[in-house]
Amino acid sequence: MREPISDNKNYNKISKNFLKYESLGMQPNIRIQWSKAKNYYVEDRFKKKYIDFTSGIFAVNIGHKNKNLINSTTKVLRSGIAHTYTYFNQHRENYVKNLINFINHKKLKKCHLVSSGTEATETALKLVRTYGQSINKKKIGIICIKGNWHGRTVGSQMLSGKNGQSKWIGYFDKNIFHVDFPYPWKIKDKRDLNGFFKKSLKKRFKSGFNFKKNITAILLETFQGWGAVFYPKEYVQEIKSFCNKNNILLCFDEMQSGFGRTGKKFGFEHYNVSPDLICCGKGMGSGFPLSGVITSKKVMDNKLVSGLSSTHSSNALVCAAGLTTLNEIKNKKLVKKSAELGKFLHVELEKLRNKFDNIIFQTLGKGLIASIIFKNKKILPQLKSQIMFQKNVY
Ligand SMILES: Cc1ncc(COP(=O)(O)O)c(C=O)c1O
Repeated sequence: MREPISDNKNYNKISKNFLKYESLGMQPNIRIQWSKAKNYYVEDRFKKKYIDFTSGIFAVNIGHKNKNLINSTTKVLRSGIAHTYTYFNQHRENYVKNLINFINHKKLKKCHLVSSGTEATETALKLVRTYGQSINKKKIGIICIKGNWHGRTVGSQMLSGKNGQSKWIGYFDKNIFHVDFPYPWKIKDKRDLNGFFKKSLKKRFKSGFNFKKNITAILLETFQGWGAVFYPKEYVQEIKSFCNKNNILLCFDEMQSGFGRTGKKFGFEHYNVSPDLICCGKGMGSGFPLSGVITSKKVMDNKLVSGLSSTHSSNALVCAAGLTTLNEIKNKKLVKKSAELGKFLHVELEKLRNKFDNIIFQTLGKGLIASIIFKNKKILPQLKSQIMFQKNVY
């Protein structure tokens, strides 16, 4: 059955109060009011059912209405210690230990938990800068990539670059630098890639710039979220050797790519490089506000780092959700499943591209993250009204 993605009559009924009392920034493009969800299905208040291809924008990698998640979080609520501020609680202790074991990486041995993705990238900014300054006072520069996204607060918007979204800040940190992204449509063959990073540095920095002295970190969004655009492996490896040479930390923003989404536990594994720091969120808490930075002891506990606590961070409730998430990923072998289903998905998407090559430019992604890039954006409103709905799925 084909129906429009929202019918205005129904939407008008529910949207009035949102428009009246809430910021425009929170008004969604797709006008659905969720009332129930299970696995990968969502039902709206008019009992229309949808497949949630976004996994709640990568927040519910273990599926909606996960039974074990409901049990573990209900248990915490019943105990009455949902909120503990920084005081120790057993859920937090279990979680941090299990998180570090799950990541199982020789450098990523300490975590700091917060509540949102943007807080995690802000924390990373503070950590790499204080760490750099602990080596020399001028080592505060951060290199980021144009078009990458790291969140909506001041520091993270600057990390995301000078764009329409960061204009409101009114100034720009002169020690945050942006270089070009190697988009696949710019890299026609391997020769274009050869030295791409070095060339983009040359474009951005004056000759003679001392990277070792002035740059503390390079931050990569593991793939560009808007279009599931990954970097060529060679490009990230070129960055890694540059970091090694100049004593620079290589950091990944794994907000979308973490916890099995791309067919690996973490997206950085696709590039065969070893990071010094990762920022996580979204799928980490399966819908509960849990995010964090994971790095080495020397960075996390560097002598210049100032206070890192936050009122709601790592409370017992989110830690229980985090632990259940890790257990579900392990017990249900979700990383392997994401890789296998991903193979199927990408083969099918490629078939679609071949069939509709007059309108589809490229299909991109890895594992269970994918995009279809259209040749002309005028096609989108037409496509929106062709979305299929399924009934009677519960
Ligand atoms: C790569 C990346 N970093 C950071 C963020 C910010 O996360 P949050 O919305 O939880 O603050 C996002 C959110 O979309 C993201 O995709």
